[in-house]
Amino acid sequence: MEFFIDTGDIEEIKESYSWGVIDGVTTNPSLVAKTGVDQKTLIKNIAEIVDGPISAEVISTDSEGMLKEAYDLAKIHDNVVIKLPMTIEGMKACHRLSADKIKTNVTLIFSANQALLAAKNGATYVSPFIGRLDDIGQTGNYLIQEIRTVFDNYGMETKILAASIRHTDHVKASALMGSDVATIPFKVLKQLFHHPLTVSGLEQFLADHAKSQK
Ligand code: G3P
Repeated sequence: MEFFIDTGDIEEIKESYSWGVIDGVTTNPSLVAKTGVDQKTLIKNIAEIVDGPISAEVISTDSEGMLKEAYDLAKIHDNVVIKLPMTIEGMKACHRLSADKIKTNVTLIFSANQALLAAKNGATYVSPFIGRLDDIGQTGNYLIQEIRTVFDNYGMETKILAASIRHTDHVKASALMGSDVATIPFKVLKQLFHHPLTVSGLEQFLADHAKSQK
């Protein structure tokens, strides 16, 4: 399973990349806006740190505008993946980019049918937003399971990228449901390493070692 970090914060990217578990980065317009840096500069800076897929999202709502942005973004680095919204216009752009062998990540996926449409258009990734489904009283994890079943039924190669991850249990559930990738915020990524029994166990080992040295 691959782990991407879901952030535009360069310090978070540098720090988590040094942990050895990061395979790529996802951004979105909200995350870019938080950085105060323009999107192209940010993506360029990320590409200097991370050797893996970097999702950069278009903001146009019509397919021609999306394509113009996409070709511009794709020029920044070979690792750039164009993030497109799950709309009819987004799907038209996805179809064209797939034909041009440009990698895509279809975002704002909330149903297995939407994931199926993106896969039919050759999307490289689909991003089901599991936390936002939980927010409206549904169980986001089940969507990962449904998409896994659909893709496996037809041998579809589109990768499932679990997004909108809010806590460590979302990561575990995504892994259990067979997600190919999880994109994880820095805070949650850090929490994955932690277990209170690891902390107390290590304290005990170090205390016993110190005693044995006296
Ligand atoms: O990158 C998209 C997604 O991960 C956003 O998550 O927490 O804003 O629903 P969230």
